[in-house]
Amino acid sequence: MRLVAATGNAHKVKEIRKILKGYEILTAAEAGFFEDVEETGTTFLENALIKARAVCSATKLPALADDSGLCVDALGGEPGVYSARYSGGGSKENRALLLKNLQGVKDRRANFCCAVALVFPDGRELTAEGRSYGEILTKERGNGGFGYDPLFFSDDLNKTFSEATEEEKNAVSHRGLALRALEKLL
Ligand code: IMP
Repeated sequence: MRLVAATGNAHKVKEIRKILKGYEILTAAEAGFFEDVEETGTTFLENALIKARAVCSATKLPALADDSGLCVDALGGEPGVYSARYSGGGSKENRALLLKNLQGVKDRRANFCCAVALVFPDGRELTAEGRSYGEILTKERGNGGFGYDPLFFSDDLNKTFSEATEEEKNAVSHRGLALRALEKLL
């Protein structure tokens, strides 16, 4: 089956391709979709559905969207759906702001959350969610991954997502869990 990944994030597409091995995953650009869909939802699931519906309706192909983010307990679940836009800058600035907001904070529990939505041209919609738990370090560790990975010390892996191989991260990550749950529904 051919699916369009409704995201401009190359790291996410790479992870989706590795996790959903039996599917041909096109990027939005490969399917001729270049718009930036505004994420107006207040939950990960709402935003995933908004993106998947927009790409499916424009490309007439089944569209798979992921909306994800980091939820930090001591910050009341922030940055949450605003993870990508937390500092107004890029990933490096987002990580710096997170460390600043957690300065002196002892409880550093956090989880990555991912909602995925698959929308078909005939109107069918499938959704699934996944969460991966860990702690926010006080200093970055590792070179791999993207976003908040260097600060996220995974309970499952006993190292940061940045220190993990792609396979290790995908086996326990929020995106891996959500996509494998979606695959079961398929
Ligand atoms: P989205 O594109 O609106 O879903 O934004 C997700 C944001 O959450 C990304 O830009 C990252 O900052 C963060 N994020 C989501 N998944 C991951 C991950 O697997 N590792 C690190 N950061 C992530």
